[in-house]
Parts: sequence; C-alpha cells; structure tokens
Amino acid sequence: MSGDFLLPREGSLEDPIRVAVIVSGGGSGLAALLQYQATPRTHRTALVLSDKADAGGLQHGIDAGLPSLGIPLPTKTGAKERRVAHEQLINAALEEHNIELVVLSGYMRILTPWFVSRWKGRLVNIHPSLLPDFPGAHAHRDVLAAGVDVTGCTVHLVDEGVDSGPILAQIQVDVHEGDDESALQERVKRVEHVLYPKTLDILCSGQISL
Ligand code: GRF
Repeated sequence: MSGDFLLPREGSLEDPIRVAVIVSGGGSGLAALLQYQATPRTHRTALVLSDKADAGGLQHGIDAGLPSLGIPLPTKTGAKERRVAHEQLINAALEEHNIELVVLSGYMRILTPWFVSRWKGRLVNIHPSLLPDFPGAHAHRDVLAAGVDVTGCTVHLVDEGVDSGPILAQIQVDVHEGDDESALQERVKRVEHVLYPKTLDILCSGQISL
C-alpha cells in the first residue's frame, strides 16, 4: 500500500509498546482497553490525553494511576494557528512520555497534516461504521437515515484524510428496527470494546504489513 506509514516496532509482554490514548468524551473505549491491559499484553497505556479538561475519560486514566492530562485548545491567535499550537502541546506530551503509538478513542478533532506526518503508521483510530461508508462525526445518524440493515465499526491507521486511512479490522453489527442513535451507538460500542484491543494486539506484535 503506502510506503510512508512507519509501523510500531514489535512489542513483547516484557517490553510492551508505550501507548497514549486520546479521548474527548466519556472514554468507555479507554476503560475497556485499560481493563484488557490489566493482563500483560504487547501494548500498555502510559499516558491519557484529552482536548477537554473535563472529559469523563480522563478519570479512567487517573483511576488507573496514569498521567492523564487535559490539553485544551490555546485561546490565542487565529483558528489555524490555534490548531497547530494545540497539536504541538499534544506532541510535546507524547514525546515527554516516550510514546510509541497514539490510539484515538472518541477523539473528536481532525488532526492536521503536520501531526499526522509525525505519527503516520503509529496513529490509529476507531470509527463507528463500516468504512468507507459513513465517515464523519455523525455515523450513527447517517446510518439510520440511509436505512441500511447492517453497520459496524472499523479500526484504521490515520492518514491526512477524514476516516480514510488503511483499514486494519472491521466487525459488522445489525441495525434493529426502531433503533435510535443512542441504542445503535451502545450496540456498536460493545463490539468496539472487543475489536480495538484485539487489533492493537495484532498491530503491536508485528503482524501487519502494508
Ligand atoms: C466511539 O463510538 C468511537 O467509535 C467514536 O466515539 C465513541 C467514543 O465513545 N469515535 P467513548 O468516549 O469511548 O465512550
């Protein structure tokens, strides 16, 4: 596929890949990952970050005894400068904690090419649809509006596009009659909480080649 994805080294149980998880919301996916990593794996969360100082997800990191930092957008300057300044702060925290893999878990901001180019191949996301169908911030709403019977979730490497990088794993989830956004989201999340940790196992044990 693309030569410019630099994948993580092969982790081991003795020397797991150091992961940072970045969240914007409640962090149920982070909680599931931390629970999975309670048993030694080839990946271990070493840092939790959020763009929201009051994100519920930060508490999961704090409860696990991990450095857990809210890094809000700086208030100064114009919109573009603010985005880059924000990502520079995030990047500095990642470097300070010797992070090897960035796991986006409900992170609601689109990353700039500046950040993506630094982490490409070591930057993963989970999206609540069967990509390439229904990218964007309102996947469940769009799935219901389209009237499809099957949706799902996708783990992918992040590239410069929106929900467009190489797909690592997907699982289908049925849409039920009468589903609303929240019912569908909860059903998909239950599957995400299994798929994401398992996909990190594959990525962090050198089993992916692009
Ligand atoms: C998940 O459904 C994820 O796929 C999407 O945002 C949701 C995050 O949920 N990008 P939570 O914060 O982990 O509970």
